[in-house]
Amino acid sequence: MQGMSGPNITRDGLPFVNFSGINYLGWQQDKSVLSAFCASVMRYGLSTGGSRATQGVCEPHHRLERILSRHHGKDKTLTFASGMLANMGFINAMTAKFNFSSTSKIDNRDAVLVFDRDCHWSLWKAAAHLKFGERLLAFRHNDVVDLERVLGMVGDRKAIVVFESVYSSDGSVAPIGEILDVCERTGTLSYIDDANGFMVYGEPQRPFYEAFKHMRRADFIMVSLSKSVGLEGGAISANAEFIDAFEVLSGTSIFTAAMQPATACAAASIIERLQDDPSVMDDYLRRSLDFRQALLDLDLPLNEEASFITSVMIGNDSKAERVREALEEEGFCVPIFRYPAVKRNHALMRLIQHKDHTESDIQRFVGCLATLLRDAPCDAVRTRLPHAAVAN
Ligand SMILES: Cc1ncc(COP(=O)(O)O)c(C=O)c1O
Repeated sequence: MQGMSGPNITRDGLPFVNFSGINYLGWQQDKSVLSAFCASVMRYGLSTGGSRATQGVCEPHHRLERILSRHHGKDKTLTFASGMLANMGFINAMTAKFNFSSTSKIDNRDAVLVFDRDCHWSLWKAAAHLKFGERLLAFRHNDVVDLERVLGMVGDRKAIVVFESVYSSDGSVAPIGEILDVCERTGTLSYIDDANGFMVYGEPQRPFYEAFKHMRRADFIMVSLSKSVGLEGGAISANAEFIDAFEVLSGTSIFTAAMQPATACAAASIIERLQDDPSVMDDYLRRSLDFRQALLDLDLPLNEEASFITSVMIGNDSKAERVREALEEEGFCVPIFRYPAVKRNHALMRLIQHKDHTESDIQRFVGCLATLLRDAPCDAVRTRLPHAAVAN
């Protein structure tokens, strides 16, 4: 790309209307965010100079961690250089053994992880050292009855249920309250990856409030800062005793550089802006639903849940690639999720509207899709379990 990623991008010298970015609120086009970032660079420099275990992290990291702890109603938060590293660190910590001293040790080698089958690649990858069926179990996507069945296989071993709030490829939303009911009833720890839902859902006036109002009941809440916040970084919030142990046990805190101070500073100010002015997200969600409706009016097979993620289920892998190429010729950049991101021939086009897309961009895009798909209709495949193909 030449220049910033935003509602429009220039790639290899050609202009595109961009539906591929996950930084859809456009904070990096916001002058005051850029100024806060630059001021922080001048004060704290470009890096912490290592992991937090060496010299420590900077004031902006602590400010961000306090804001996240308050937001989630937890004692403490640990930030990581990315959401992926937060996920990997969590799984590592919860399955590792570590002797802090001759009298103090943690041994999690008997813990069983119970994943929603559609969990993100980073979670499956981090758990790859566990034997599937023994220390790693999976329940059907968003299926609470199946979760209970799977937990029945755990017996009296300690278990952690791992799931997401909003799933990235099909935008499906977890029945958060029901899953946590099961966890609480069975004395099971719960970890929710809220990478996609963070700062999006949870306010009473927004969709899915009935699910998101339960979020704080989870033992661990993980967020990514690359989506609604549009930067880089990840974090886990929980009780202090867990978070203190994660600094060492995660490995992804102690063995890698912390996030940039200026990123922590900009993230904190973006989160506070979203908290102070909910209309930014309210308006965005309204527009994303209008966009979804325009595609439904074309009779396109879309993902079932009306979240801000709109996926067109195309099906055949090569057809999906042809759709992408045809849209590219018309000046649109769209991401195609195909094997190995989803099952073979369950390809989908994952569309995330940018806050600053113009009405005419949207109308032109919808018009192009209508023409394209009239000539080559979708297979109308409704895919479920998109990550399962990769993971199992
Ligand atoms: C559900 C989920 N978890 C974790 C991640 C990783 O987040 P990050 O981009 O901050 O590494 C993503 C990003 O794609 C995601 O969708």
